[in-house]
Amino acid sequence: AARTRDDLRCPVVVIMGHVDTGKTKLLDKIRKTNVQEGEAGGITQQIGATYFEKSTLLTQTAKLNETEKFELTLPGMLVIDTPGHESFTNLRSRGSSLCDVAILVVDLMHGLEQQTIESLHMLRKRGTPFVIALNKVDRCYNWVTCKDSPIRDALKVQSDGTLQEFRSRASDAKVQLQEQGVNSNIYWEMGDDDWTNSDFVPIVPTSAITGEGVQDILLLLCQISERKLWRQLMWCANLQCTVLEVKAIDGLGMTVDCLVVNGYLREGDKAVFCTLDGPIVAEIRGLLTPPPSREMRIKSEYIHHKEIKGALGVKVIGNGLEKVMAGTPVMVVGPDDEVEDIKAEVMSDLTRLQKKLSTDKKGVMVQASTLGALEALLQFLREETKPPIPVSAIGIGTIHKRDVTKISIMNEKGCPEYATILAFDVPVPREAREHAEEVNVRIFTADIIYHLFDQFTRFMDELSE
Ligand code: GTP
Ligand code: NA
Ligand code: MG
Repeated sequence: AARTRDDLRCPVVVIMGHVDTGKTKLLDKIRKTNVQEGEAGGITQQIGATYFEKSTLLTQTAKLNETEKFELTLPGMLVIDTPGHESFTNLRSRGSSLCDVAILVVDLMHGLEQQTIESLHMLRKRGTPFVIALNKVDRCYNWVTCKDSPIRDALKVQSDGTLQEFRSRASDAKVQLQEQGVNSNIYWEMGDDDWTNSDFVPIVPTSAITGEGVQDILLLLCQISERKLWRQLMWCANLQCTVLEVKAIDGLGMTVDCLVVNGYLREGDKAVFCTLDGPIVAEIRGLLTPPPSREMRIKSEYIHHKEIKGALGVKVIGNGLEKVMAGTPVMVVGPDDEVEDIKAEVMSDLTRLQKKLSTDKKGVMVQASTLGALEALLQFLREETKPPIPVSAIGIGTIHKRDVTKISIMNEKGCPEYATILAFDVPVPREAREHAEEVNVRIFTADIIYHLFDQFTRFMDELSE
């Protein structure tokens, strides 16, 4: 079927920005959930996905749309949450590479921070349109709460002092953006077609806690999608699918969270996945999604589907998917396809990563829960530690006895300091731990990435003393 403007897919929206600017809270506000408070240390460490139905977009913009009168034709919106912590450059990079449009969240009280700037440059580099959520307006002195209301209505009832603080902080943010080469303006102060046609980035003041401006940001994203991005949003039948996360779920076994941007994924499809041990071909046995307005990262009452039409986040069930790596593409073998060609294409990113491992085979083992976390660790060890810590082996998921045995060889190679496993956010079963003691292998574990760096750095310092 021809691609048409009448058949748009959901835009994929990514939320980026410095740590603790309120990305997850903003999503919680729209979802009416409380994901953020359940996170370890209140820090996001994974990419998440939430699907909002058209009806949700309509209700959540209803008040503002009384005046805007925008006719919404999108089937919904898929929003990807990303971590703001500096260690997760790769997840932000993946997020920004997967999306059609982005929300860059800036804390009104802090202005532009390190990872905001990093995100900004990622978006610019890829030419991704974005809006700025100037978040935490409720923290202006004496702010009068106008729960969930359009931002202009909320500003109308503030005192002069509060407005003055807001304006001065907003104007500081604009100057800082200008210093990064970004022209921006409060979105309603922009000329009528400014935000659809020019380089100007719209700023939407928001509060993720009291909800002011949330209507505005949603409606603006819909308007940008339909008016500016409709060409790239025309639905297309070719499958475009990426693995977000691989994880065990009680009662379901190993599941693979995927982002299907375009095309269909169907039960019974013969799909090719990327693993450290090479490509695997598996039949898709189940396709599950959380209910609309629920985060895929959080266990919920999943809905079973025969077919998934992009754009949508989906949990894929199949045999032998334990080792599938996050961040890699998924492809389906069609009737006219050569399986070998598809395998090579699916493996290409990992092949590139493996080329970066220590060439003399001396170095620590790094084990992580996802390819993104693994890449982040590898990058840190390469660039942030002096001298760089060599890595000889990498792995994803649970640490097994065989991994311990493999790295224990460093003791025989005369570099016992490398008989070490850095394990981020992965289980270490007791038998692996016991075996490690027997063969003199250290396992450092952490579920906050920089704690792991700290432990290992301390260990290396002790060694050199
Ligand atoms: P990372 O995922 O770790 O990068 O952080 P994040 O950007 O997702 O921020 P998060 O949602 O975890 O919020 C960080 C802190 O800021 C939490 O304590 C929130 O309650 C608070 N917060 C977020 N948004 C607002 C807001 O609009 N107003 C106020 N007052 N506090 C907020
Ligand atoms: Na946080
Ligand atoms: Mg977060």
